[in-house]
Amino acid sequence: MSAYGRARFTGRTVVVTGAGSGIGRETAVSFATEGAEVVVADIDEAAAAATVEQITATGGRAAAVRTDVSDPASVEALMDRTVELFGKLDVLHNNAFWAPLYRPVVDTTVDEWDRTIGVTLTGVFLGCKFGIPRMVAGGGGVIVNTASVAALTVNPKYAAYMAAKGGVVALTKSIAYDYGPQHIRCNAVAPGLVQGTGATRPVFENPERVEWLMRKIALGRPGQPSDIAKAVLFLTSDDADYITGDTMVVDGGRLIG
Ligand SMILES: NC(=O)c1ccc[n+]([C@@H]2O[C@H](COP(=O)([O-])OP(=O)(O)OC[C@H]3O[C@@H](n4cnc5c(N)ncnc54)[C@H](O)[C@@H]3O)[C@@H](O)[C@H]2O)c1
Repeated sequence: MSAYGRARFTGRTVVVTGAGSGIGRETAVSFATEGAEVVVADIDEAAAAATVEQITATGGRAAAVRTDVSDPASVEALMDRTVELFGKLDVLHNNAFWAPLYRPVVDTTVDEWDRTIGVTLTGVFLGCKFGIPRMVAGGGGVIVNTASVAALTVNPKYAAYMAAKGGVVALTKSIAYDYGPQHIRCNAVAPGLVQGTGATRPVFENPERVEWLMRKIALGRPGQPSDIAKAVLFLTSDDADYITGDTMVVDGGRLIG
């Protein structure tokens, strides 16, 4: 049960990709704390195992499955393994990403572009492609895709990342519309700047950039992985059962500035 005394996911099976670090790890732990059986999927096997250890140490149920979200065979195997382990799939959080930092279009290599789209956008497509049939077989399910405020405004010199995340927002609406009648809800969460993740470590090593960024955030602090996890759990819980196709911004008021 969570610190708020809730256990909204008891009896539900949840897959979280990119759950070896940052936002994905925090979300996986939060789902387990609220009663879910969690499949921790990450390309980094040791990191995934560490998340599982964190969950099982406090009595939760979880399993690590090494997954490359850009590889169709790997994602299909993840979904098969989930059903093998826990009998079904109820909730999917497509969260893994890869992108080069600080690259405007001209400086982005074709390989960097392909890998960014492959992991960050195709990874979401593949999770849904192989996850939705398993959810439908169980009577329905819920998906949350991690987008970014970079899909909704400009992050300077993040060309491939912005394109991939824009795609995630559009794909989220497409899935919500096409599979709503089969009892699938699909939303996205768009974090602002989140501290304590692999992605933003280089940002927080640059005090001038942090100061500039803090001036843009109404609440005057960076987000924490738990701020995003709380939104993901809300969107995938029955509390949000009439919400689909939405992109929920969780940015401390950055976009309004
Ligand atoms: N941290 C932020 O400020 C921020 C802001 C907006 C959006 N986001 C989004 O949040 C999500 C999580 O980011 P984070 O900040 O926690 O980053 P992170 O670097 O801490 O975690 C990303 C995880 O994805 C895994 N991964 C990378 N390639 C993979 C692949 N091919 N297959 C499976 N797993 C793979 C990594 O091993 C890592 O564990 C991402 O989608 C990111 O774009 C983060």
